[in-house]
Amino acid sequence: MSQTLMYPPEIMALSPIIPVIAIDDAARAIDLAHALIAGGIKVLEITLRTPDALKAISLLTENVPEAVVGAGTVLNVNDLHRVVDAGASFAISPGSTEMLLLEALKLNFPLLPGVATGSEIMHGLELGYTHFKLFPAMSAGGITALKSFSGPFQSARFCPTGGISEDNFLDFLKLDNVLCIGGSWIAPGDLTNAGKFDEITRLTASAIELYKNANA
Ligand code: 3PG
Repeated sequence: MSQTLMYPPEIMALSPIIPVIAIDDAARAIDLAHALIAGGIKVLEITLRTPDALKAISLLTENVPEAVVGAGTVLNVNDLHRVVDAGASFAISPGSTEMLLLEALKLNFPLLPGVATGSEIMHGLELGYTHFKLFPAMSAGGITALKSFSGPFQSARFCPTGGISEDNFLDFLKLDNVLCIGGSWIAPGDLTNAGKFDEITRLTASAIELYKNANA
């Protein structure tokens, strides 16, 4: 299996939005990836929330080389090994455990660990992590929390995820310590299951255009 590893600073520079995907049917993964790429996003987070997730990661890695395919909802060391074997380019976790963070370092496998508190950020920084997923972003304090974290944690960079939508994502991306955001609104499961890939391209292109206009 050809596997290109992608480390958090590179992943987070690829796109202002990482689509958070729960895929019910791996057979739809390739069309979904092409729909996102057509709209302007080539990085995907396939979450381990469905039985088909690993199969989808393998299919995408083998068939859509222009996509950068990561695995989300990586909860433990076993999950990490499974996504490495499936060919993922990186992993994202909703929280941080010492075992998971150490194992990713041992494997030299890119991991974006989830944090919601100062203690979790400190723990990650101690182990050498500087890039984090803030999860669940809105209930963990959203923009207010990220502004507060920028004081004590000047080297930390975030991908807030959880409760972010087309209505508020630009506000997050204005913050200096936010490099990208994650969201499921870009690729909703009902549209994927219904084969409405044009609609997914439209949602993606609309968000990317909003971002470009805001940064013109
Ligand atoms: C995640 O797993 O990252 C979140 O559940 C995605 O959150 P959202 O559905 O609010 O975008």
